[in-house]
Amino acid sequence: RPGWPGIINAYRDRIAVPEGAEIITLHEGGTPLLPAAHLSELTGCQVYLKIEGVNPTGSFKDRGMTVAMTYAKAEGSKAVICASTGNTSASAAAYAARAGLTSAVLVPKGKIALGKLAQAVAYGARILQVDGNFDDCLELARKTASAHPVYLVNSVNQVRIEGQKSAAFEVCDVLGRAPDVHCLPVGNAGNITGYWKGYREYAADGVVPATPRMFGFQAEGAAPLVLGHPVPNPETIATAIRIGSPASWTGAVTARDESDGLFHALSDEQILAAYRLLAAREGVFVEPASASSVAGLLTTAEDGRLPKGSVVVCTVTGHGLKDPDTALLGMTEVEALPVDPAAVATALELG
Ligand code: F0G
Repeated sequence: RPGWPGIINAYRDRIAVPEGAEIITLHEGGTPLLPAAHLSELTGCQVYLKIEGVNPTGSFKDRGMTVAMTYAKAEGSKAVICASTGNTSASAAAYAARAGLTSAVLVPKGKIALGKLAQAVAYGARILQVDGNFDDCLELARKTASAHPVYLVNSVNQVRIEGQKSAAFEVCDVLGRAPDVHCLPVGNAGNITGYWKGYREYAADGVVPATPRMFGFQAEGAAPLVLGHPVPNPETIATAIRIGSPASWTGAVTARDESDGLFHALSDEQILAAYRLLAAREGVFVEPASASSVAGLLTTAEDGRLPKGSVVVCTVTGHGLKDPDTALLGMTEVEALPVDPAAVATALELG
């Protein structure tokens, strides 16, 4: 959107920052709410995609990070730290660079997508690859921040949630109402907590008449909220949500219960099928974890839990370029050709 000033300036009256603080922003937010014709036809609903991959670092994390980094800078911190499955670290590294702070990121070794690692390198983060999973990384980040002068920018820091709620405002501002149902991938559960806070604030202030039902989707191998207990060794191809013990557990359960929503677990096959469908039929290339909102949409439409005719928003949380390896899985060899128009015509079977 031309002239979009970033979420803090766009929602100045709803997102608190310290008095007189310099706003650290890359003009995040203001992302498209794209009607999805093919998904609407498949489900008998009116489906929109909230495309968070167009944020400055390619994921929704920038919404929370602008607020967290604004606080870090205002409080005089010199360094920030986070644990991440990749997107939070990319975002923290970028916003720290913008703020002139140093950043340290703790990531699970070998389990973060290539594009995200490339971002952390490019933005100049200190990258620490931990021989453990995300949950181990988060515990290390919390312990480090509580004992040393370094500011924690994970969503256990509530100012991150304040930023992430802005996506709910944007959805309502575009639709002129809240959707009937909002579908989200759920990992550490900060995002579903943020959306629910945003929807409740708009409804409480009479900006919209009602709140949506919140549908949260996890991967079968990493589905603590669906199972109702932490998972010690989470596994899924959707590495962004490979999390066994979500920090915002209570926020997620509250969102589900207060909204008459649900949690559901999807197989990696279902997630990958939705991932391919989104790119091939809607022209929207997302990372695997993001496709779980759409896999969940399709599953709940099919089993009847999603009422026909609903207005549904699926957030697709991160850009497909984050994870080139998954995109190239199963790619057939690309043919090499001589510089010859006849060879092109033959290869394309143009007769
Ligand atoms: N989708 C993507 C692409 C993510 O990166 C994440 C979380 C989620 C969904 C789940 O959101 O944690 O708020 O429930 N990524 C975190 C990270 C854990 O470190 O980047 P959540």
